[in-house]
Amino acid sequence: MILVLDFGSQYNQLITRRIRELGVYSELHSHKLTAEAIKRMNPKGIILSGGPHSVYDENSFRCDKEIFDLDIPILGICYGMQLMTLHFGGNVTKAKNREYGKALIELSNDPVLFQNTPKNQSVWMSHGDKVLEVPEGFHVDATSPSTPIAAMSKPDEKLYGVQFHPEVRHSEYGNHVLKQFVFDVCKADGDWTIENFIEMEVDKIKEKVGNRNVLCALSGGVDSSVVAALIHKAIGNQLTCIFVDHGLLRKNEADEVMKTFADDFHMNVIKIDAQERFLSKLRNESDPEKKRKIIGNEFIYVFDEEAGKLKDMDFLAQGTLYTDIIESGTETAQTIKSHHNVGGLPEDMQFELIEPLNTLFKDEVRELGLQLGLPEAIVWRQPFPGPGLAIRVLGAITDEKLEIVRESDAILRRVIAEEGLEREIWQYFTVLPDIRSVGVMGDARTYDYTIGIRAVTSIDGMTSDWARIPWDVMEKISNRIVNEVEHINRVVYDVTSKPPATIEWE
Ligand code: XMP
Repeated sequence: MILVLDFGSQYNQLITRRIRELGVYSELHSHKLTAEAIKRMNPKGIILSGGPHSVYDENSFRCDKEIFDLDIPILGICYGMQLMTLHFGGNVTKAKNREYGKALIELSNDPVLFQNTPKNQSVWMSHGDKVLEVPEGFHVDATSPSTPIAAMSKPDEKLYGVQFHPEVRHSEYGNHVLKQFVFDVCKADGDWTIENFIEMEVDKIKEKVGNRNVLCALSGGVDSSVVAALIHKAIGNQLTCIFVDHGLLRKNEADEVMKTFADDFHMNVIKIDAQERFLSKLRNESDPEKKRKIIGNEFIYVFDEEAGKLKDMDFLAQGTLYTDIIESGTETAQTIKSHHNVGGLPEDMQFELIEPLNTLFKDEVRELGLQLGLPEAIVWRQPFPGPGLAIRVLGAITDEKLEIVRESDAILRRVIAEEGLEREIWQYFTVLPDIRSVGVMGDARTYDYTIGIRAVTSIDGMTSDWARIPWDVMEKISNRIVNEVEHINRVVYDVTSKPPATIEWE
């Protein structure tokens, strides 16, 4: 394992990612980790990340000084290199201007981290301070016109520093630098794969759970599905899943979830048919926030009630991902996220949490799902909001309106699949605004609903752009919806990015 210590750089997660791509398991932890704790983790190497501070700031992040005495190879990146310099008695200076972007470095001699790369290469810098003088015994490995000490090392003590960011793609040989550190210096094995992650996790889950029982809220989304499949592999029927059908799911979704988990995987899945319960509460509500609240609260009541009927449930399984934890900050992550995933379950539910995906990235979770035998339709499922179709029928919900959204959404999904565009478009769905317009069908005047198509490209849902779906595909979608869905006589396409719009309309 390669341990990355987090000093607050926006790229710290990327360092972990790059190392995993090399086949070496890597974790990001707080810079506050003690040398004692690190010793117990027994990493093959430590990377000190970059960070927004100056080492001279009063409250700048520091690490336990004793980590430099652990005899574990260390690579300092940017702020990490400056911290290392300061620790060993070198000189760091406050620069007048920040250096941001591409820079050309020139190598001196044949430094270990850069072996077999060109003498002149471009790197990506993002720093204010810089090292003015290396500590005693260190060599200068690379220089650039504005950063005379762009890389340094003390190979006999396995200490390395680079001022630039090897983890970003703009650093031409950045990956090579990380590879050299991980394999040549740290002698890591490079045998980390999803298969051995499964083996490791199955053993851990077995040991943790023993002969006790685990409860899991299954939504049919990627994360909860993969968690359920993994835990089931470890403990079989000691796992019970609760799947709440709130009547706001997409066409055939409930059946597909039950087929996969109950029929194919032979899991213990309790399906709760709570459609009427949710719909009756939503019937006259048109305010988007109130609709969301009603659904969130009702979910908790239903889940709580059903969980209460089960005897001897000790653990609650959640599909928390690594990114969920990192995004909440490594310091406070566990407490912030611990009851976030199942829509804010009450704190007085007496469960121990079990979150076996909390060291994985989304694409790793997908790979894990495939390895566990989940169908592609689940593993590659597009994001679907907890409140479901309720926030795609604008205003008050009626059975008829739900049906219109459900049917038009099914057509849209079918056409996108037929055209092979599923993986290109991040999310695509239909919305029913509360407007009617005049049309003509078979020589007769109609006065019916308009359906909106929303299709976006995005990386994480935080920002998005509208998908440039080819016109002929649009034509197919539009024709099929007006012809096959009753009460629709007009189709419009939402061409707004986020921001200023959001992805969902409510
Ligand atoms: P917005 O509409 O905020 O959506 O741009 C960003 C992403 O989040 C999804 N979304 C939700 N997911 N519960 C969820 O689990 C929710 O209440 C919720 N609201 C929005 C949305 O589908 C998009 O992928």
